[in-house]
Amino acid sequence: MRHVTRAASAALLLGVAPSVLLAEIVGPTTPPPAPDFEAQGEPIFVNRDEVFTFRALDSYNEPDFVAAFVEAGLLPPVEERLPAEPLVFSAGNMPDGIGVYGDVMRHVIGGRPEGWNYWAGQSYGWGGIDIAMAECLTRTGPLFMINPEDLLPMPNLARSWDWSEDGMSLSVNLIEGARWSDGEPFGTHDIDFYWNHVVMDPNITPLGGATPSTFGEGTTLEITGPYQFVFNFTTPFPEQILFAMAYGTFCPGPSHMLAPHHPATGGESYEGFTSAFPPDFMNFPVMGAWVAVEHRPDEIVILRRNPFYWKVDEAGNQLPYLNENHYRLSTWADRDVQAVAGTGDFSNLEQPENFVAALRQAADEDAPARLAFGPRTIGYTLHMNFSANGWGAPDERAQAIRELNRDLNFRIGVTQALDRVRIGDSLVRGPFTTQYPGGLYPGTSFYDEESTVFFPYSLESARAHFEMAGLVDTDGDGFLNHPADVMGGANVQITLLNNVDFNTDSNLAEAVVTMMEEAGLRVVLQSLSGNDVDAVAIGGGWDWRVFRNASELITVVQNTTELAPLGPQTMRSHYANTDGEIVLMPFEEELNEIISAFMATRDAEERAELMQRYQQVYTENLYGIGLTAYPGALIINKRFSNIPPGAPIFMFNWAEDNIIRERVWVASDAQGDFEVFPESLPAAPGTRGVITTN
Ligand code: GLA
Ligand code: CA
Repeated sequence: MRHVTRAASAALLLGVAPSVLLAEIVGPTTPPPAPDFEAQGEPIFVNRDEVFTFRALDSYNEPDFVAAFVEAGLLPPVEERLPAEPLVFSAGNMPDGIGVYGDVMRHVIGGRPEGWNYWAGQSYGWGGIDIAMAECLTRTGPLFMINPEDLLPMPNLARSWDWSEDGMSLSVNLIEGARWSDGEPFGTHDIDFYWNHVVMDPNITPLGGATPSTFGEGTTLEITGPYQFVFNFTTPFPEQILFAMAYGTFCPGPSHMLAPHHPATGGESYEGFTSAFPPDFMNFPVMGAWVAVEHRPDEIVILRRNPFYWKVDEAGNQLPYLNENHYRLSTWADRDVQAVAGTGDFSNLEQPENFVAALRQAADEDAPARLAFGPRTIGYTLHMNFSANGWGAPDERAQAIRELNRDLNFRIGVTQALDRVRIGDSLVRGPFTTQYPGGLYPGTSFYDEESTVFFPYSLESARAHFEMAGLVDTDGDGFLNHPADVMGGANVQITLLNNVDFNTDSNLAEAVVTMMEEAGLRVVLQSLSGNDVDAVAIGGGWDWRVFRNASELITVVQNTTELAPLGPQTMRSHYANTDGEIVLMPFEEELNEIISAFMATRDAEERAELMQRYQQVYTENLYGIGLTAYPGALIINKRFSNIPPGAPIFMFNWAEDNIIRERVWVASDAQGDFEVFPESLPAAPGTRGVITTN
């Protein structure tokens, strides 16, 4: 009802007879039910401390060929390479138990490494390559299998933490005595650099997009020892901080490599900092299980085991079990094809265009890979650029679009011009896709159907709303025009940013163009490949964008700060201008209040209510326009052991993190002959390739 009233008053303001428009307006409902789709495989739920603990073991083991390096005097003994109390994975939580060394996981990815300075915003090419190399203070991927009562991030580089009594500070303890893959010590000097010269430096944005607001406005960090630091907060018990310490936002880099190039610590310029570690710089030091030793452009990146890795199994075997990790540089669609065919080992089957072929091949008993669908956690949103005060320096045309984007009538027009049944069917037929209004996904823990506002498809209603937004086809060419005082009354023309690396993104973008044209709105594609899309998206030079959603809309507790425009650069559709100013719409202020209140309370009931309000405000205002949501499947070669049942391809993180690759192994008689650098270890930073004992 509220919408009809609003629409009518807008019509009155414009001097249009409301009765004429009202006759055409189709009001909102709750969303149509999603077709039944059963996830295959249930996780075995456990508490976090059943997965691993930190403790010293009596003795440690390593692969024979690594022991040969020690004998040759090329490497310190394994107990000296490990922290005093390494992370110890419990055998009881391993689906197939303690493993054996050897073999490779062969990934295929559609991205390309821009360079190794993740902290200056360079992408490694995605598809799990950065997840294999970088470790973070806490870890969230495996939380899909954690009991709801114990659902907090897992320790990782941060082995423990203590809240002060008043909750105003959190003291964090790092693992002690761990080393980077080149043997240099890891400690709070690395935290200091990351916090003060990456997060706090407005001149650079790390790849995961961490800004001061990610950690809560006013939060400070104080180093209190070689392995201890303290966060100080402005509100008590912001549990969110533990999630902000996870993948994407708190994965510190090697300060011994980075600091000499950063302008604040001796480097020449920010450009120099960014370009200090180009894609052909090999053996960049990592805390992850594997080190990049070889990169052949457009062909492959090869990662070799890190002899200083700080995790072991209960029998004292230093991890990882797998000696290499390959990333063939191809396309995302090819990742599916190769994983199913057995020439690749892993894929997140996430592009519905490939579902039917993949399912057919995987059904064969002799198929090399298993395929299991998970919950409906892949979804797309049409984002509109809401900055009307200069983000991305819009010209007159773009400015006019920004103002339309901020008009609710315009957004209702757009959402009602989208036939989501047709959109879903254009990707794949069958029970996979569901009509997604935007906001939280159905089936996730904070979702509430009653609080979800759905505007049904109706071209008449869409046109009526466009008219209320002031758009009429004054020259009769079939496309809506601006009012005479905007752009000289020219046809409206909107650009739609999409990522050509994914067929799904392109197909959705094309569906949007077609359906807008049917409603009289001209939209043209701004098609770019991944790394360029990210640059344009962050720079603000776009009108609309097709976006594959991130984890905050599934879990709510991960990346919570990105649910609302809490900071100058937290809401991807609404960044501040270069002066840091952001002009919020009234409902955005409301979203900020809701999310701040959500983060400030630990009361489960209150949190549930707040998220219901969030969903209501989000969907009735069409903050993001939902396109479609569907399940994805994990495809993994049958020779791998220790793949946890029910691992979703995407939840708190991607499956590359969820399956805990450092404890995945291959039985001796199933091992392939895939190692490119057998019997070798990573060479020194900046040197290409590996070293051997002879
Ligand atoms: C890309 C892929 C995902 C996943 C992530 C990991 O985004 O599309 O399936 O592999 O990389 O970062
Ligand atoms: Ca026209």
